[in-house]
Amino acid sequence: MTHTLSDTVTPSAVNSLPSLDELWMPFTANRAFKRAPRMLVAAKDMHYTSADGRQILDGTAGLWCVNAGHCRDGIVAAIREQAGTMDYAPPFQMGHPIEFELAERLARMLPKGIDRVFFGNPGSEAVDTALKIALAYWQAKGQPQRVRFIGRARGYHGVGFGGIAVGGIEANRKQFMAQMLPAVDHLPHTHDLARNAYTRGQPEHGAELADALEQMIAKHGGDTIAAVIIEPVAGSTGVLIPPKGYLERLRKICDAHGILLIFDEVITGFGRLGASFAATKFNVTPDMMTVAKGITNAAVPMGAVCARAAIYDTIVNASSAGIELFHGYTYSGHPLAAAAGLATLDIYEKEGLFERAASLESYWADAVHALRGAPHVIDLRSIGIVAGVELEPRAGAPGARGFDAFLKCFELGVMIRSTGDTLAMSPPLILEKSHIDQIFDTVAKALRAVN
Ligand SMILES: Cc1ncc(COP(=O)(O)O)c(C=O)c1O
Repeated sequence: MTHTLSDTVTPSAVNSLPSLDELWMPFTANRAFKRAPRMLVAAKDMHYTSADGRQILDGTAGLWCVNAGHCRDGIVAAIREQAGTMDYAPPFQMGHPIEFELAERLARMLPKGIDRVFFGNPGSEAVDTALKIALAYWQAKGQPQRVRFIGRARGYHGVGFGGIAVGGIEANRKQFMAQMLPAVDHLPHTHDLARNAYTRGQPEHGAELADALEQMIAKHGGDTIAAVIIEPVAGSTGVLIPPKGYLERLRKICDAHGILLIFDEVITGFGRLGASFAATKFNVTPDMMTVAKGITNAAVPMGAVCARAAIYDTIVNASSAGIELFHGYTYSGHPLAAAAGLATLDIYEKEGLFERAASLESYWADAVHALRGAPHVIDLRSIGIVAGVELEPRAGAPGARGFDAFLKCFELGVMIRSTGDTLAMSPPLILEKSHIDQIFDTVAKALRAVN
């Protein structure tokens, strides 16, 4: 596997930056960023090129999404060709072959029993679509009273109104006092430092936390609950890995009460855990899965809800004729995204990237856990090619130390993420052992440098 650094950066891209005033940046401290911008101008394989001409090792696959590495020839060529053949086709009452082909390819990869695919764009749309499909399903089944959703504390399901309601991040809700979904509860999260600190892979303790669902069922009635939605491994709130037996227990309780189980696999899908999906890795099959990010290697936005055929059949057959689901996006199944998706799946398959991730998992975990004893570290977590390095927060300034560590790593040539005081790493799956060494040597250096 070759990893040539980009030679596509022109001196003008490096030297002349546009005005920074007009752009309102998402999930960013705009004022601080604009005072000291961190600009990326090119990318190839494992590296970004910064505007000041430095090579930055991508320790996060962009934003957990560039699983096959950057600017891969096959994907670039497929997008180019599709843009010149048919740039766009309307998805309502019209179709184009490659969106069907991609759905069929995905259905073959998905856990057995999940083989219907509804396309949208970002992960947030996939989540809101899944929630709407759950509601439509229960209406079609003659159980319209099932409107309650159960999410989980420290869950991230994007930023649509549905996603922030079932999501478990207070900060993402409190600025928006709108009435969101009418009936939502949250399971407790599974992060338990006292019992599980420094675990490799799945923690031993905490399966019983799934039983909180039983209490909600006792309180509201199981037949009022439409669906439970969780991330199998929570990514954005700091890499929280499910305790052994936890997902199985949730599945069992949902089954006992006919509740739909949705896995939000926007991060965990497409090889991140060393298997095609978290459902495959943990051998627990939900009723629906949301995916995005790695589905197109992030080259064109695309997301999808993948559902059991029974869900599709129930909704579609409930209507005598005409449109069965009043939902969709102008860009559902966009030709460029579908072309990128097919080319991406080809690369995953031909290069065996999910197997490659699995084969590197133990080297990766060794490198993560070698940080034990480094300054500020209070926990290390690893699974597949994902790591969480939790730091002791600075007194009175939660998140500040994590952010400083992120800045220091960037200065030292490695891009990681900080989420609160947890550092997260999730590089492209084409990585070599030398990249793993570089990531964790740099993190260690950064931890020695921050106060
Ligand atoms: C688990 C999960 N769900 C949904 C989303 C939202 O995806 P997007 O940012 O593409 O809307 C994310 C994004 O990180 C995610 O991690």
